[in-house]
Amino acid sequence: MVDLKAQYRRIQPEVDAAVARVLASAQFIGGPECQALEAEFAAYCGVSHAVGVANGTDALILALRCYGVGPGDDVVTVANTFIATGEAIALNGARAVFVDVEEASATMDPRLLEKALTPRTKVIVPVQLYGQPADMDPILEVGRRHGIPVLEDAAQAHGGAIGRKRVGSFGHAASFSFYPGKNLGAYGDAGMVVSNDADFIARLRQMANHGGGVHKYDNVVVGTNSRLDGLQAAILRVKLRHLDTWNRERRERAQAYTAALTGIAGLTLPAERSGVTSAWHLYTLRTARREALEAHLAGQGIATARHYPRPIHLQPAMAAMGGREGDLPVSERLCREVLQIPLYPELPFEAVGRIANEIRAFLSA
Ligand SMILES: Cc1ncc(COP(=O)(O)O)c(C=O)c1O
Repeated sequence: MVDLKAQYRRIQPEVDAAVARVLASAQFIGGPECQALEAEFAAYCGVSHAVGVANGTDALILALRCYGVGPGDDVVTVANTFIATGEAIALNGARAVFVDVEEASATMDPRLLEKALTPRTKVIVPVQLYGQPADMDPILEVGRRHGIPVLEDAAQAHGGAIGRKRVGSFGHAASFSFYPGKNLGAYGDAGMVVSNDADFIARLRQMANHGGGVHKYDNVVVGTNSRLDGLQAAILRVKLRHLDTWNRERRERAQAYTAALTGIAGLTLPAERSGVTSAWHLYTLRTARREALEAHLAGQGIATARHYPRPIHLQPAMAAMGGREGDLPVSERLCREVLQIPLYPELPFEAVGRIANEIRAFLSA
């Protein structure tokens, strides 16, 4: 689905120099590379503060903790997401309340949000899925009306935007993952939380480093070890400089797929909501013949993926949240029909053409 070796070949001298710099400095945990990345990534998102953490799951867990989420609280989110969104809520002892998604974008349906709120709702967590931000204005409006902060799960959407405003700058805070396969990916695990709220970021930084106070061995709250390391930060700084180019290259390939796949009966193509710039993390097809198409493409040596095969309210791990089949009809249908095909900046256009031809030939037969 991605070719990280091809990506490394494009930037090898820059990455190797960055790694050598960290090795020579021996600043392996925190340090100047981490501070620089935090400042650069915050500026990229259009916010003032950021804190690096160990991965995108910790970014969510720690952000929810900093909102005081705990037992007896509800967090409203979607089920058409990676399990980490639900885990972060469960691990804080809270209940996940799932709302359905819009059919076209597969992101939180703002029309269903208000009805899902309870007196215990502490945070609203829309997921910026497949690279595309959710319909943020009405979601933020509901949050404002009820005094509930909105935390963006932005793990899949580095560089996505609504108008000129980038993902990460809509909610009170946003969590990012730098898992290697993401649009901005480390060479290992890494994550970040961004916000304009300096106190919130300071609390999160404290929580992510053993609840430390002014001195290393002042431990003022129960924290954990979830720190960004210098090597990952240095590599991410190199890659951040290329992110807009890479997102543009993803878009060009997505447009080529769309041009080649338009007009096939029974096939729904991904589309950007008006005014939205997707980061095109994934190119998501929908067809009722998903299994057969998947098997055909596998037979031709073409990789595919299902994001996601099961909505998380129906995952055994989320059973305590009380989700039942039929609760979220759109999410459940999408999980039966979605299929991702390869999309990454280095994907040759000939491969785009070949993959599209295979899909057209199979579905038109
Ligand atoms: C929507 C979403 N949230 C959270 C995560 C968790 O990020 P990580 O794998 O860095 O823990 C991911 C990525 O894997 C994701 O796609």
